[in-house]
Amino acid sequence: MASPDTSQGTVIVTGASSGIGHALCRRLMSAGRSIITVDVGEPPPDLAPVKHFLCDLNEEGEIEDLTGAISQDFEMKSIAALVNVAGVPGTQPAAQVFEVNVLAVRHLSRSLAPHLSAGSTIVNVGSISGNGWQERLHIYQSLLELDNAAARTWWSEQSKSVGVDPYTFSKEAVIVWSMLHAGELRGSGIRCNVVSPGPVETPLLPTFREQIGDDRIDWVLSHSGRAAKADEIAQAIEWLAIGESGWVNGHHLVVDGGYTSGLLSGWVDVDKAPAPKLTHVD
Ligand code: NAI
Repeated sequence: MASPDTSQGTVIVTGASSGIGHALCRRLMSAGRSIITVDVGEPPPDLAPVKHFLCDLNEEGEIEDLTGAISQDFEMKSIAALVNVAGVPGTQPAAQVFEVNVLAVRHLSRSLAPHLSAGSTIVNVGSISGNGWQERLHIYQSLLELDNAAARTWWSEQSKSVGVDPYTFSKEAVIVWSMLHAGELRGSGIRCNVVSPGPVETPLLPTFREQIGDDRIDWVLSHSGRAAKADEIAQAIEWLAIGESGWVNGHHLVVDGGYTSGLLSGWVDVDKAPAPKLTHVD
């Protein structure tokens, strides 16, 4: 059977009302794409989505209503991509960090993927905070096999003993989830990738300074030279979502101006870094 043409399809973007999600929507609109936006807040006036869904991704029931409404209101074959940008920092309660940054991404993706066509894509947003995912891979593999209720129970019991702060944990988990989801989707023609930014100039950055500490953020920025513009992250997401990236699948794409390459190859000496704060908010 011929695959529907998703080359002009609509893109669903969560976290569209600010920062990276907003920048992505602007790019997509410039490329002539229609967008469906999802956020707990209203969209900025310069966006013209075909529909904006007010949805608190911290609430499972609201995600169910959202996926029902999207599948009812839209011809799903016309959806080219789902981009999960929404995320909350570690200054929020640990339960919410896990819910929004991990469970909501999985829930939305799993609910919509069966309705998407071959050639469409899912892109999630991680963080370089999640770069150490390999150290806890076994935890994520078993955690992500649990349903939402069991995963929440596990997290409420274990969040203080996983060895990293909740935000780092959530971003490691979403990186692993994206790879696992690429596996779940094999044979469907739908790809799933994850983009991990370093520090980005968005309203979230001051919160990260609070969460991680000015010293540590400034040390990271001293290697990359500056924080990214939101549009520089949106460029990478756009490429994976609707660009000529057709054989890129299950990929963790770090977009940080080179900082991580320094960690991996040794020109960044993390032993000299100021210790990050390990924020855990109950
Ligand atoms: P932002 O705060 O500017 O935008 C986040 C958007 O997500 C906001 O519009 C917010 O309303 C929405 N959102 C938050 N909680 C929500 C919920 N419960 N339901 C629905 N929408 C919700 O932040 P930014 O910087 O654009 O962050 C986007 C993503 O990039 C996040 O996943 C973040 O973790 C990640 N990131 C950001 C970095 C940075 O330095 N800004 C660095 C690395 C990753």
